Amino acid sequence: MELRLTEEQQLIQKSARDFAQKEVAPKARELDEQGRWPTELVQQMAELGFLGIAVPEEYGGAGCDNVAYALAMIEISKACASTGVIMSVNNSLACDPILKFGTEAQKKEFLAPMAAGRTLGCFGLTEPSSGSDASAMQTVAVKDGDHWVIDGSKNWITCGPHADLIVVFCNTNPELGSRGTTAFIVPKGTEGFKPQKADEKLGIHAAHSCTIFFEGCRVPDAWRLGEEGMGFKIAMSTLDGGRIGIAAQALGIAEAAHEKAVAYAHERKAFGKPIAAKQAIQFKIADMAMQLDAARMLILRAAWLKDQAVKDGTTRHTQESAMAKLYASEMATRVTHQALQIFGGYGYSKEYDLERHYRDARITEIYEGTSEIMRVVIGGMELKKA
Ligand code: CAA
Repeated sequence: MELRLTEEQQLIQKSARDFAQKEVAPKARELDEQGRWPTELVQQMAELGFLGIAVPEEYGGAGCDNVAYALAMIEISKACASTGVIMSVNNSLACDPILKFGTEAQKKEFLAPMAAGRTLGCFGLTEPSSGSDASAMQTVAVKDGDHWVIDGSKNWITCGPHADLIVVFCNTNPELGSRGTTAFIVPKGTEGFKPQKADEKLGIHAAHSCTIFFEGCRVPDAWRLGEEGMGFKIAMSTLDGGRIGIAAQALGIAEAAHEKAVAYAHERKAFGKPIAAKQAIQFKIADMAMQLDAARMLILRAAWLKDQAVKDGTTRHTQESAMAKLYASEMATRVTHQALQIFGGYGYSKEYDLERHYRDARITEIYEGTSEIMRVVIGGMELKKA
């Protein structure tokens, strides 16, 4: 079994690390405090090819694999979780479904500029009354000749206020439940497509999200993504990839907290010695290191399986992606909690980054499927094996 990264994967990891540490990390605290959308970092990520890492070059992407994508996500999220999720949404939730399910014309018109980072995409599944129970969506699309008319609302749409297009899921046949869902690509500027003001949140302050209203929003059938009734499967299969991105984001946040806690443990003295000399601290550091490693293995396995799926078109990684996301996100909550504890009062202070990591970690247990839904997915698949 080969656990070494390829030269290309190491190159992407290094280039993401250099960019993250030189350009992103110095701005992370200011972005969080101001809740400022990082326009210049999004532009730089586009230039570095990070907004369409696993999209083939013929469609504007960097043509790398999903392992490279996960490695880059870890590095960038380690510097700034907000910048990390902006990258993840564009790669996993906007580019990926069009790459997998789009027509050639849709790939040329919508995917290529997005993968090159000239435009930005977002993903509309969640609604005010349906989050975990995604198929209970109430947004409808009604056929009108060779057009569809979309009415409803989507919320918590990460990147929504800035995105140039949305991949949105609508009910097109209420009698069929999840089999009555259809996906559409809706570009910004389409009449009746109305993003609202940015939400106020506990963390990831620079990654703006919002509610989007669709009011008589008329789109041509050419913007339908996949077959009629296929939308729920498109959403779920997209999230199988997206959850790897969020797991990588969680690992990046936890790595940042761990590294800072280790440095602080060497510096801070108590009872005449650096606190690193105390077993109480050593045990925390040991538990963190082990959990970080476990998360890394789960994430890279899921990303590797996604690469096999790209090659053979049949490999499923639903369960492995859910395991990676569940473990990495809960681990990030535990690790940031313990790292903050090592910092004591300073960890609670806005003077240090720990409180930001602690707040940012929390969302990874919620978006792209809560920890509870990850257990439903993993448990359901496990029981089917018997
Ligand atoms: N890939 C392909 N097809 C899949 C699939 C997958 N991973 N998972 C399910 N399906 C198919 C099933 O095979 C089934 O097909 P048939 O009708 O042919 O049998 C169909 O989809 C319905 O499946 P279920 O019966 O399992 O569906 P369900 O209604 O019970 O829901 C669920 C399952 C796992 C709970 C799902 O609703 C879910 O994942 N909920 C969480 C939603 C979520 O993650 N939202 C995140 C929003 S995006 C976000 O947060 C973005 C952001 O801003 C960053």
